[in-house]
This record gives sequence, structure tokens and C-alpha cells, in this order.
Amino acid sequence: GRKFFVGGNWKCNGTTEDVKKIVSTLNAGELPSTDIVEVVVSPPFVFLTSVKSELRPEIQVAAQNCWVKKGGAFTGEVSAEMLVNLGVPWVILGHSERRALLHETNEFVGDKVAYALSQGLKVIACVGETLEQREAGTTMEVVAAQTKAIADKISSWDNVVLAYEPVWAIGTGKVASPAQAQEVHAGLRKWFEENISADVAATTRIIYGGSVSGSNCKELGGQPDVDGFLVGGASLKPEFIDIIKAAE
Ligand code: 13P
Repeated sequence: GRKFFVGGNWKCNGTTEDVKKIVSTLNAGELPSTDIVEVVVSPPFVFLTSVKSELRPEIQVAAQNCWVKKGGAFTGEVSAEMLVNLGVPWVILGHSERRALLHETNEFVGDKVAYALSQGLKVIACVGETLEQREAGTTMEVVAAQTKAIADKISSWDNVVLAYEPVWAIGTGKVASPAQAQEVHAGLRKWFEENISADVAATTRIIYGGSVSGSNCKELGGQPDVDGFLVGGASLKPEFIDIIKAAE
């Protein structure tokens, strides 16, 4: 089976005081066993080491990005090697905010995923359509092209979790319906089956992101092809514990 996966993407939020509060809430919360759920939180780079050292060991950390190749003269970037050196196991790549605001292309995201994996990181790779693309009926085409650009550059999906995050649902409170999420997740699984292998289709976790909350997580997580969540806003709140419990 595919172990339920709940990621908390803190994005560009938080002061040291906020971070202390979030960590102590997570440390005090009653969580399902690690046999049932894998939990990963993703603080901004500047808080990564302190969060990693202060968090309970059942919760792992992820960086929100890393450089596309070996570090060097790339001012302002953080390399995959640095994350490995710090003992950070995960990285989020291809988030729609970076695709849209920082013009990361499908190919660039594919290169980043490949490089991060080659260094031993595990990757939460994000795909998702805009509202315009959904309304034009091209959702599956868009997410398949984003997934293919990654598949073209990697040889194993073992260390990848695929996050389906419809852009129109991110930070809007307009969550995808369970049926809408299920449809795309099933489509992606079918894409894996037809283009990669039945094994990759059966084992790769496909998680949903976009306005996930304590009140909608149960129904979303109950869909057969929804293997967890990537949570933004609600991951900064005590509500994140309730979302993790949706794994039960
Ligand atoms: P929200 O949960 O705030 O909609 O953000 C989702 C997201 O982008 C997680 O990566």
C-alpha cells in the first residue's frame, strides 16, 4: 500500500516566534503512528536547521526549493548538496508559485527533480493547472505534460511524491471537490501506467494540495487515488494536526 503522506508547506511565512509556536504545537499534538502516515513540514530555508533540531523525530523536514545543479557561483541559491549536508531529507520542487512568479518551466523543474534525486534527496514534485486551463478543458493535458517533463529526466520514481495542486485552489479557499481531485489523481495514475509502468502507477503517492483544511480533509483523503495532502495556510495552524489525523 501507499503510506498516507501529509506535507505542510509554510511558504514565505513566519518569524522566529511564530516558528517556535508551530513547532511546540506539533510536538505536543497526538499524531497517528508513523506506520500510518508520513509527515513532512517545509519551513523557509532560514528556519530549516532549527526546526529540524527542535521537531519531534516522527516529523521530517523539506526545503521549499533548491538549485538545479551543483552549487557554485549562483548568488542567492541553495544547493541540493547543502540540504543533504544538513540532513534535510526532502525538497519541494515545481511549486506553482515558482512556476508562475519565477518562470520555472516544465523542463527546468524536470532538471531540478533529477538533480535533487541524484544527490539523495526525496522530492515532492508539484503539478497543476490554472483556472483558465481547467475551463479550456486541458487539465489532464497540462498535468501530464508537467509530469512527463519530470519523467523524461529521471529513472526512478521511488523517492518522488507527486503533488497535484490546482492553481485555482491554492490560497483561495476554493478547494477542489473530492470528485475533481479523484478524477485528476486517477488520470495521473493512468498516465503512469501507460507511460512508465504498472508498478510506478501502483506505488507512487499522489497527494492533493489547494485549500485543504480540517473540515474538508477527511472526504478528500477518502478518495481512492488521493494519498495525502500538501497543505499551505492550514499547516501554520493547530488545524494541521487534524489534517494529519485524516490518515486514520
Ligand atoms: P493552501 O493550502 O494555502 O491553499 O496552499 C496549498 C499549497 O500551495 C501547498 O503547497
